[in-house]
Amino acid sequence: MQAPAAAGLAGVAADALLVVVTGTSAPTGLDGPLAEVLAAAAKHGDFEFKAGQSLYAYSVAGVKAPRVLFAHAGDGSVKAWRKAVAAGVGQLKGGGTRSLAVAATGGLALAAEHAEALVCAAEDAVYLYRQTKPSAPQPSRLQSVHLLAPKAEHAALATGLARGAAIAAGTTLARELANRPGNHATPTVLAETAQALGKSHGLKVAVLERKDCEKLGMGAFLAVAQGSEQPPKFIVARWMHGPKNEAPIVLVGKGITFDTGGVSLKPAAEMDEMKFDMGGAASVLGTLRAVAEAKAKVNLIGIIPACENMPDGKAVKPGDVVTSMSGQTIEILNTDAEGRLILCDALTYAERFEPAVVVDIATLTGACVIALGHHRSGLFSADDALAAELLAAGEQALDPAWRMPLDEEYDEALKSHFADMANVGSRAGGAVTAAMFLKRFVAKLRWAHLDIAGTAWKSGAAKGATGRPVPLLTHFVLGRAG
Ligand code: BES
Ligand code: MN
Ligand code: ZN
Repeated sequence: MQAPAAAGLAGVAADALLVVVTGTSAPTGLDGPLAEVLAAAAKHGDFEFKAGQSLYAYSVAGVKAPRVLFAHAGDGSVKAWRKAVAAGVGQLKGGGTRSLAVAATGGLALAAEHAEALVCAAEDAVYLYRQTKPSAPQPSRLQSVHLLAPKAEHAALATGLARGAAIAAGTTLARELANRPGNHATPTVLAETAQALGKSHGLKVAVLERKDCEKLGMGAFLAVAQGSEQPPKFIVARWMHGPKNEAPIVLVGKGITFDTGGVSLKPAAEMDEMKFDMGGAASVLGTLRAVAEAKAKVNLIGIIPACENMPDGKAVKPGDVVTSMSGQTIEILNTDAEGRLILCDALTYAERFEPAVVVDIATLTGACVIALGHHRSGLFSADDALAAELLAAGEQALDPAWRMPLDEEYDEALKSHFADMANVGSRAGGAVTAAMFLKRFVAKLRWAHLDIAGTAWKSGAAKGATGRPVPLLTHFVLGRAG
């Protein structure tokens, strides 16, 4: 993807031309044949100058590109631009278009964020899951997207295009992994994927086996894993390309490759969606990929506790008490609150890296979906500066989060008669009590928690992983790379 010089749009050689329109009237400066099509469509009621409108024309006389698309991007904000581009690529992706040229009109000055959003939207639109579906349609023929802009904007846009390509690659990896069915994305497969990513992208990857975790005293992680035939894997992947003595950023991703609930079994309806319960892990691998592709000068470590949550004769039972790696004991009142159990040991393990910050990412609670729906991820942190940094990264990346509370009053709910804490409180404030549980393990860390239960995947007709929050995390990490 590149940003060639702006030319008269009618003369642009590409299989398709996407003209992004802003403003409330016909843009000035558009080549005659293009202006005529738009004016005619507006006159006949097929195009209005408002956000969300689009128009597809074929073989327009006087225009070199055989396909012409107009899409209206409202006020020209990055968000509206992304929607317009997504609509345009969505129209073209199934057809014969190999090369697409995109141009802004109406005086819209493009920034690096527009370029980034273009790449991400294009890749998002053409992505299709095919791993276990031989009958899936052929991959889109769309190969290249060119952004047309004045020379003065090229340097900034090239930066945006490169960042977009990195984020898109990371997001696609996260989607692909999370979409994979539980039997195709076991903890072993996740570990192998991390190792392959290490080879292809220059990461150092270590995988701790069950006995290694036993030696470390990861009683909480292993309690979740003990009901499964699949061996647990504790994955550590490192991209250490920052200054030698700079403390690393650590990302911890929940890697439950399938969550049945365990003995506290979940109801059957929609249980298939619990294959997405490794969305946090997928986003950590995706972010590592994005950061590696961006060749960022930063020290980044990804930690992924991966296992299945299954009920069987050896499974952990409600009321069992386990000892976490931190030494604190936990009464497992509900085996379905397993995410926090694997994360707490991973957070304790993270201490050894003396990290600058630790962010955990987890499809942790249904309660977070109730609180925030599917638009914003839940962000929890006792550290105002870190919270602000993550929120800003989410806004920039169009992958937004919303801050949730962590007042000590919520901690009350985790009291246990038989251990230092219980793993669940009551139903009230479930997303918060889950975060409060994690907070008990981060005394030595600068920590934030992202609950992505509502944002990591979509249900219904468009069922599938979103790859979120790879864009947020990549912005956060690249922002720290300076
Ligand atoms: N993976 C689930 C959270 C989840 C549920 C995400 C539904 C998205 C949709 C997690 O392991 C879980 O089961 N949490 C329980 C916690 C409860 C037992 C305190 C929940 O949210 O019901
Ligand atoms: Mn669960
Ligand atoms: Zn879970």
